[in-house]
Amino acid sequence: MSLRDILGFETPIFAFSHCRDVVVEVTKAGGYGVLGASTFSPEQLEVELAWIDAHVDGRPYGVDVIIPGNYNTEAEESFGKIDLHDLIPDEHKSFIDKVLDDEGVPELPDDDRARINEEIVTGRGAMTPDGARRLLEVTLRHPQVRFVVSALGAPPPDVVEKLRAHDITIGAMCGRPKHAARHKAAGVDVIIAQGTEAGGHTGEIATLVLVPQVIDAVGGDIPVIAAGGFARGSQIAAALALGAEGVWCGTVWLGTRESELTPFERQAYFDAETEDAVRRRCRTGKTVRMLKSKLSEVWEAPGAPEYLGSPLQGILFNEATARVIRAERADLYSFPAGQVVGAMKEETSVRQVMYDMQVELADTLERLSKSSFGG
Ligand SMILES: Cc1cc2nc3c(=O)[nH]c(=O)nc-3n(C[C@H](O)[C@H](O)[C@H](O)COP(=O)(O)O)c2cc1C
Repeated sequence: MSLRDILGFETPIFAFSHCRDVVVEVTKAGGYGVLGASTFSPEQLEVELAWIDAHVDGRPYGVDVIIPGNYNTEAEESFGKIDLHDLIPDEHKSFIDKVLDDEGVPELPDDDRARINEEIVTGRGAMTPDGARRLLEVTLRHPQVRFVVSALGAPPPDVVEKLRAHDITIGAMCGRPKHAARHKAAGVDVIIAQGTEAGGHTGEIATLVLVPQVIDAVGGDIPVIAAGGFARGSQIAAALALGAEGVWCGTVWLGTRESELTPFERQAYFDAETEDAVRRRCRTGKTVRMLKSKLSEVWEAPGAPEYLGSPLQGILFNEATARVIRAERADLYSFPAGQVVGAMKEETSVRQVMYDMQVELADTLERLSKSSFGG
């Protein structure tokens, strides 16, 4: 059976998004929306999934959780028992506070600070295997979720068993061929081969090189979706030519009016060039491709503290980002962005992106079939 038949999509375009509106619009347009769950508390995830269920016209959709192989075990064990801020060294707190104070970025007002910091600790604190398990408990109460994807590591056996019992297709993100082999051994059904071009956590191998390597590594037994660098139809044609059964996009949705970003943040994407999407560790402690800013670069300078493990670095950096967004300081704003950001210049809509990608895909396939190489 093809992946299309297993998952039930019409067009091979997967949308990763933390925003429920994007998930719904892509799915209704014939693609496959996957909600990034890892920034939500279980309670909030319940609200998001109930909303998607109600708006997606009965179609299936997916959920993505972060199950890291390496993380701060003390933070995992302490989650919900102590304030995770207590595990962040003072040196790190004062380093980032000083950067923002020197730049004249006002502190968050007290009432907002307490709420925002609580949300960040709950969301980022869940980026551990147990955190993912809590989110999956909620996910399994929503039968329209037919695809669950794990990022940053293979799903552990108990998770695979539970998802299997609910007849859910299991996917895993991978940035190196050896990860694909590990995912296969863990019992994963679908691999998402994500090249370095991608926004978010990303490795070093380019999509064009990685996808065939991953297909070879899993011996053609497991369908592969290509991720990293897909924002238009000709690129999708290239992925299909490589043997991928679909493409998985993240950055392109951030420029749509449905996305979770504020107008200030969206403008930062439209102003960015491809070279501004750099790989840095300051956001989570692991390499993330993100918009370059003064705040991303101070961590690279001599004298900056060591990066903390997940989820502590994420808590620290996201609280600073909340201050930057409130102050609308583009020079300090760093949020995940892939290299396709350089081609995003104005606000669009999910429907328009879906339409443009499909038209260009059809045109590209037709052009190729008529070319001297098309036979
Ligand atoms: C803002 C943002 C947040 C992301 N967060 C996650 C995440 O939580 N889990 C995950 O599997 N991938 C995450 N990713 C990576 C996407 O799933 C996807 O692989 C990537 O965006 C594809 O490349 P592109 O950015 O070139 O479209 C994120 C990407 C972006 C842009």
